[in-house]
Amino acid sequence: MASVVEKVIRGAVSRVLGGIASFNRRWLPVPDGPYPYFTGLHEPAAGEYTVENLHVTGVLPPELDGRYLRIGPNPVHRDTRGHHWFVGDGMVHGVRLQGGQARWYRNRFVRSRKVSEALDVPMAPGPHRGRFDNVNTALVAVGGSAWALVEAGSAPVRLGDDLEQQAYDDFGGTLQGPFSAHPHRDPVTGDLHAIAYRGDEPDSVRHVVVSPEGRVRRELRIPVAHGPMVHDCAVTERYVVILDLPVTFSMKSMLSGQYFPYRWNPEHPARVGLLPKDGGVADITWVPVDPCFVFHTANAYDTADGQVVLDAVVYDRVFDGSTHGPASNPRGLERWIIDPAAGSVTRRLVDAAPQEFPRIDGRRSGLPHRFVYTLGLPEAFTPDIVGASHLFRHDLHTGERQRHDFGAGLAPGEFVFVPRHEAAAEDDGWLVGFVIDAAVDATDLVVLDATRFEGPPVASVRIPHRIPVGFHGEWFPAR
Ligand SMILES: [Fe+2]
Repeated sequence: MASVVEKVIRGAVSRVLGGIASFNRRWLPVPDGPYPYFTGLHEPAAGEYTVENLHVTGVLPPELDGRYLRIGPNPVHRDTRGHHWFVGDGMVHGVRLQGGQARWYRNRFVRSRKVSEALDVPMAPGPHRGRFDNVNTALVAVGGSAWALVEAGSAPVRLGDDLEQQAYDDFGGTLQGPFSAHPHRDPVTGDLHAIAYRGDEPDSVRHVVVSPEGRVRRELRIPVAHGPMVHDCAVTERYVVILDLPVTFSMKSMLSGQYFPYRWNPEHPARVGLLPKDGGVADITWVPVDPCFVFHTANAYDTADGQVVLDAVVYDRVFDGSTHGPASNPRGLERWIIDPAAGSVTRRLVDAAPQEFPRIDGRRSGLPHRFVYTLGLPEAFTPDIVGASHLFRHDLHTGERQRHDFGAGLAPGEFVFVPRHEAAAEDDGWLVGFVIDAAVDATDLVVLDATRFEGPPVASVRIPHRIPVGFHGEWFPAR
């Protein structure tokens, strides 16, 4: 009961601080418990809010005209049985910046079947594709709209500009199979390339290509063994890079009631595939790599001598014990040189510090990049990421690593790069992301100048409640 009272007070404070139109639509029950992904920085938002004309500290660059959106898991029911952090119901948080002001903040559940039943609200229209319609992982711009994405099943969800309208959309009926949370932009055509998979197709993954207008123009099934989990891929001017690594579908986990039925599988050979972007299955060059796992690539590009450079955050192994979420830190940021002629992958450690969510200047997708920005993790792994209060900026030309420390008690998430203008040089722009201020249960949308990375923020926008730890964000410029 105490926690409910706290939240009512917090909601009232939000309304006062937030200005014109703060409201919460409904309250969810908040049982107490030690489960790490329902408590602390992960504690789900208790309702949906709209806050207008937010308080800004510093000066918001007027060039930042658009929306920062971020998505993550926000379970409507807090049942720990079989729960995994990765499968919580999706919630999108967004902030609209315009003319040096922060016009609004909104958070909205993705209107899946389960969310609709729990909150007694209409489901988002469109093809939900069965029971597994939870969309919670990443966002991408296609055809002038923001889309919420998830891997392994559900169709994406197209979001209205103010997040009030949502529709499940299989790219206008052109997507036959699953999609991915991490498609990558083709530097030549502007198409999105993804490697997609789902549990009921353990013998294949799919190369899916979506045109800039939002129509699927290719779905190629690629034979694999054991049903690997493929969270990310990479694209270059010539290739799609396929990561076929030893986390695979586990029927045993499925039958034991786990919502996340993927486990480390030492029987599954680790390999990297180079698929010519318009090639067939026979054109893929598969190259073995030592067993490891990659959630996120930063970028990849071709070299003049026919190799592919891939930067990624690499784990020695994952999902080998805990059934609730990752249970250890990555080994760091690595550079892989994939040589299809030699059939080899050479791995070089760029930085051993624990870090995740690597991002680049998106205009360098598939092209040589110089800078990678990552979220620092605590030295000792902890599910609630207490102690993660820094970002890294890697200059891969000089080898210099800069560190931006937000300070004790401040917990950043993934930051995204926004160029100063379309013709600006790489790294000439801002980094934008959420930082939780745990002491006062609030969140800031923080803007850093990428070229003065270690300096104080250019601006921060106060959101008068805590936005729980989430997954991925994106900047959507105003049209
Ligand atoms: Fe991801």
